[in-house]
Amino acid sequence: MSIDIAILDFGGQYVFNIRRTLLELGYNAEIFPFNTDIDQLLNYNIKGIILSGGPYSICARDAPKISSKYLETNIPILGICYGHQLLIKMLGGEVARSDRGEFGFTILYVDDLDNELFKGLDKTEICWMSHKDIVATAPPGAKIIAHTDVSKIAAFQYRNFYGVQFHPEVFQTPKGYIILRNFARICGAERREWDVRSFIDKAIREIKEKVGDEKAIIAVSGGVDSTTLALLAKEALGGNLICVHVDTGLMRKNESIKVVSYLQKMGLNVVFIDASDKVFSSLKNVISSDDKRRIIGRIFIEEFTKVADSYGAKWLLQGTIAPDVIESTRGQAEKRRENKHGGVIKLHHNVGGLPSKMKLKVIEPFRELFKYQVRIIARTLGIDEELVMRQPFPGPGLGCRITGIITRDKVKLLQEITEIVERELKRYNSAQYFAMLVSSQMEKFESKVIRDFLGDSEAYLLEDLAIGVKGDERVVGKILLIYSGKWHIKEWIEILQFQNSITGEYDDVCRVIALFHKPTKGIHGVILRAVDTLDFMTAIPSRVDFEHIKNLCEHIRRRFDKISFVGYEITSKPAGTIEII
Ligand code: XMP
Repeated sequence: MSIDIAILDFGGQYVFNIRRTLLELGYNAEIFPFNTDIDQLLNYNIKGIILSGGPYSICARDAPKISSKYLETNIPILGICYGHQLLIKMLGGEVARSDRGEFGFTILYVDDLDNELFKGLDKTEICWMSHKDIVATAPPGAKIIAHTDVSKIAAFQYRNFYGVQFHPEVFQTPKGYIILRNFARICGAERREWDVRSFIDKAIREIKEKVGDEKAIIAVSGGVDSTTLALLAKEALGGNLICVHVDTGLMRKNESIKVVSYLQKMGLNVVFIDASDKVFSSLKNVISSDDKRRIIGRIFIEEFTKVADSYGAKWLLQGTIAPDVIESTRGQAEKRRENKHGGVIKLHHNVGGLPSKMKLKVIEPFRELFKYQVRIIARTLGIDEELVMRQPFPGPGLGCRITGIITRDKVKLLQEITEIVERELKRYNSAQYFAMLVSSQMEKFESKVIRDFLGDSEAYLLEDLAIGVKGDERVVGKILLIYSGKWHIKEWIEILQFQNSITGEYDDVCRVIALFHKPTKGIHGVILRAVDTLDFMTAIPSRVDFEHIKNLCEHIRRRFDKISFVGYEITSKPAGTIEII
């Protein structure tokens, strides 16, 4: 086996993102423990090495290191964060302890635009920093290729060694993927070309061989992964494929009807289950977000099992794709926690439990694929472009977007609001954009940080709690609303930094909402959310036109009774998650 890029794992929370981004870009990369012997890596014919970030201080006695033999090959090495500092030290530079460090969104000044690592970048870029120790002196002969206000040496190059203090692998460094791609090119790694036709032929053949004359079942939500797989499996199994669509009552307005009619038009065999009564009665009085997800997930499995049993299906087709496997399985997440990679952030109801409970034999033809590849298959199979590019919609549906008790009335209201919000937010090309419904119970909140940034303003803490991510852990935290007339005059990076300082300053706050009008009487609040992300593990709020958003908020507030406020969420992930519960 040959591996193009080896990633040495120093325990940083974004190690998986490095591999994931390289795979998304079409390069082959694998993760190895930091103490892997260089000779072992050379056996794989590696072309480049990345040293990851990590939770350690390079100044500590027991800081993890690599053997100096690594410096003796001519293979390009890129150090990231801790890896950057490790390289600096090994090459004769100095790293100093600091109390201040840099956390969050930071302006990066690129000093060497011609450097191969930074080809395609501009003079100033936004990057994501997360470090305390600071590089004080560059190694002799090294070239400083970028700096920030705090880090004089935010990036360097010396011969075949490159280091960056920030994290190019997270979405908060919007052009970080370009840096990783440049590094792969510096290494001479070859981009794998992907032959969609032969993938489709092979997948159809394999499904046919495995299932034979038996029956297979597939749950179709209406999303691109399951729809594409259903179409592909139909080629293999014809009438022996049974598609099941379960309407939990938490779908968007008329969504289930549309999904079923679309699938039927594509010639698929669809069984439609209306589980909404069961879902609403089971969710009565349930407040905890995990309980909500568990209940919805359980009902989904029950209904699905009934259909499988009644048809005597022996096989289950699942549209699981590589990121689901990389990020979402509990085992993996637990392992990550052991390795200090952070724990389970949310219980995603459809990863894990489904197959084992149903005793069906599982086939997952997309397990190795990334979203962009599924989309290529979808287009090849003639699926409508609207569906191909459809934004992801979570399994528990609008249930993820309502705090407190979920009722039919609340869902109906949110369905109506969602219709307007999706239409209006579409223009920002966000990865995901939607509305959330919260209660309007709140108390005033005084904060110097807010006054210093916005001057005359008002802040409120909502009584409802939401899910966030802090220090790699899932947290249940508070939602802070901030009314100001000045949002539109602030620079976007200032707003990102402001949110970061709020969630950093107040431990219990994990979501920050910009309000353009003061809350009025009413029992509900509405929060608009639009995020930019490739991996959904990290995300930043989409940069929107605040004049447009202000009008949209005002429109929704006037149009629907009982709405106290409508605001736009300015929280990145971390500190908030994408959905509210
Ligand atoms: P969070 O809220 O965890 O969301 O930042 C990340 C992405 O996952 C989706 N999501 C889910 N998808 N079942 C799903 O199928 C779930 O329980 C679930 N919870 C969140 C969310 O919409 C976003 O795309």
